[in-house]
Amino acid sequence: MEKRVLITGANGQLGTEITMALRKHPRVERLIATDIALPNQILQQGEFLPLDVCNREQLAAIIQEHKINEIIHLAAYLSAKAEGAALAAWDLNMNGLLNVLEVARTHTSVRQIFWPSSIAVFGPDARATVTLQSAPTNPTTVYGISKVAGEQWASYYTHKHGVDIRSLRYPGLISYQTLPGGGTTDYAVEIFHSAVKGEIYSCFLRENTTLPMMYMPDAVRAAIELMDAPAEDISVRTSYNLTAMSFSPAQLAAAIANRVPGFEVMYRPDARQNIAETWPSYIDDAVARRDWGWSPVYSLDDMVADMLQHLQELSTNPE
Ligand code: SER
Repeated sequence: MEKRVLITGANGQLGTEITMALRKHPRVERLIATDIALPNQILQQGEFLPLDVCNREQLAAIIQEHKINEIIHLAAYLSAKAEGAALAAWDLNMNGLLNVLEVARTHTSVRQIFWPSSIAVFGPDARATVTLQSAPTNPTTVYGISKVAGEQWASYYTHKHGVDIRSLRYPGLISYQTLPGGGTTDYAVEIFHSAVKGEIYSCFLRENTTLPMMYMPDAVRAAIELMDAPAEDISVRTSYNLTAMSFSPAQLAAAIANRVPGFEVMYRPDARQNIAETWPSYIDDAVARRDWGWSPVYSLDDMVADMLQHLQELSTNPE
């Protein structure tokens, strides 16, 4: 069946890239990007509607009018921003998701939902050598609490109401089109912008803080492959562990310096260090590999080469 897709939070780092990828997807017949903010340059090149996902009537009206059958729900506060605005973050992250689930339950045109969870579902008690799919989910951040609760709601709506919602616990995502905003892993994007400008990067995490990470083309492909997998293959209805690589700021800085001689980083950890220290360093995604064939393509060095090349092109030839 042809896909008629609605994306919430499309202006964000992931939303912009999923929008670009789905515009080229052979089975996408209609794609409506939405956001509470004005559309960025990339979103302006396609169909866009303003949407506050906390407004259920507005969401339902768009779903109904455009006969949407797939929702990619990305609107959310990230981890660092959520720590500074706990109640607002809970409101958007939780009520936004519940609105999407309720609208899917009551509008039979909606066949599938994708909603990202995060490595932030894990807390200090899950910091094993490698964090398994089945590790305990006892987060110590507002963002993590909202993701754990969201995973449980996703599972509930799947089993109780037959809503087909699929989810991935993304690691930190690295990309060049749009900056992330308010996350703890954002350093791994900002660092490239400094390197390309020939500046010293001031890193807000300590040099040895190892976190799981993924390059955006892998992240987008994972979402599309998960959505395209047969329902009977999806054994996890909370959210799948997913990873591609793990590195520390010092390892990333060294990989960049190999290609940008003289590149330097100074370390000025702030409150985001406290968040990072509660998250896993290494993720085991064997269940995703087994269930729907997940396999990442980009290693640290491939990612660094591709990021630098694209950011250099964008800086010499801005669109
Ligand atoms: N990358 C996100 C953040 O740092 C985690 O999901 O908040």
